[in-house]
Amino acid sequence: TKARIGVAGLAVMGRNLARNLARHGHTVALYNRTPTRTRALVEEYGHEGAFVPADDPAAFVASLERPRRVVIMVKAGQSTDAVIEEFAALLDQGDMIVDGGNAHFEDTRRREAALRERGIHFVGAGISGGEEGALNGPSIMPGGSAESYVFLGPLLEDIAAKAADGSPCCAHIGPDGAGHFVKMVHNGIEYADMQLIAEAYDLLRHVAGYRPDEIAGIFRTWNTGRLDSYLIEITAEVLAHTDAATGQPFVDVVADRAEQKGTGRWTVQTALDLGVPVSGIAEAVFARSLSGHAGLRQAARSLPGPSGGALPPESGGFAAQVEQALYASKVVSYAQGWNMIDAAAVEYGWDIDPGAVAAIWRGGCIIRAAFLDRIRAAFAADPALPTLLADKEFAAEVGGAQEDWRAVVGTAVARGVPAPGFSAALAYYDALRAERLPAALTQGQRDYFGAHTYRRTDREGSFHTLWGGGREERPTG
Ligand code: 6PG
Repeated sequence: TKARIGVAGLAVMGRNLARNLARHGHTVALYNRTPTRTRALVEEYGHEGAFVPADDPAAFVASLERPRRVVIMVKAGQSTDAVIEEFAALLDQGDMIVDGGNAHFEDTRRREAALRERGIHFVGAGISGGEEGALNGPSIMPGGSAESYVFLGPLLEDIAAKAADGSPCCAHIGPDGAGHFVKMVHNGIEYADMQLIAEAYDLLRHVAGYRPDEIAGIFRTWNTGRLDSYLIEITAEVLAHTDAATGQPFVDVVADRAEQKGTGRWTVQTALDLGVPVSGIAEAVFARSLSGHAGLRQAARSLPGPSGGALPPESGGFAAQVEQALYASKVVSYAQGWNMIDAAAVEYGWDIDPGAVAAIWRGGCIIRAAFLDRIRAAFAADPALPTLLADKEFAAEVGGAQEDWRAVVGTAVARGVPAPGFSAALAYYDALRAERLPAALTQGQRDYFGAHTYRRTDREGSFHTLWGGGREERPTG
């Protein structure tokens, strides 16, 4: 019998995805450059389902039913093109190659266009949820042609996580790079969520004086409310963990330099190109970057800060305020992420359903949370919602949080605890609701030094003031 689908690249993500497919009753062809990995998979997990191992790409492709479905699970990077070409050369018109790695969406666009010329469907699919998700149900964000989804959708939906209402956390996102784009934004939001949670911890620790295990308890409580999410849950686990070697809280023995593989940085780079302010994600990327600049930090180590140490733990009042600040800031960074998806849909001609994106992030992925169902509902109520902050329910919640949010940001500033995520989110909120922004002054400055012209509030057209002369105003167009 032929295999329904093949997985090439059997490092942990590929292996787990192949096992997930087999466990769901699909015969899976296997290929890995080093055949020992293929054999190890069959030996260890062969009892889980039907596998067809192959030692070379040609045998692998020959074992697949038509149209062929080839899932490539290699580390995103330069070798991806070579691997894709290796398989493309063996495929026929109508066959499909799925790239399940974290490829940059521009690469996916390029690859899709090139393979389309040859009649091969190229599907850039974002897959979130790490190793565990790949095995037990990830969130899957496939791009590519609608036709390819007819053949791939049923299998992918089968192995995807299921939301609380039973629906699969997988949907066709849009053409060419749309799937990888949406996965990139997911990762940007993941960075923002993690940074905001880290700030909440830092404030609870260094303003309120709670111990890590106490903060774990606070997070567990939050996890029963509107912040209920995978990231809050695992944060509590990490904070409650004690280092075996030293008996110290684990969080105190880990070097405080955050690393990144780059998807958050891509999100911000792309947002800059699209002209979408994603300050929450940007601050998260910068915070990771700053933490790694050991020399800078050492050089600034003795700069003065506010006097006074940690305050004694308060009776829950401060923690409740931090919860409000965290929640409101989270709404802002998600709002910014969706604005980015919106802008890309216009720029690249993708027709992305914003509610569907929220729906498939409800389970399986790193940012999975009860919250995502609220976002789904907001877009269901108004698919053209210009910002999540304009949704009636979110507006009411953020409005209700804003006094505490301000208090927390004010306290962070007064106590010298950096809270770039909380404060940037608040500044964004205040900028959006401002009746007048100082951008008018910026325009005046630009006109002064570079005759860049400005528009007026009371008349159509653009104008320049003769700043060096008599300061008369001239219409310029
Ligand atoms: C996921 C994750 C994953 C990502 C890691 C690490 O959705 O499963 O987003 O794709 O690679 O979270 O990312 P950083 O190394 O950049 O923190």
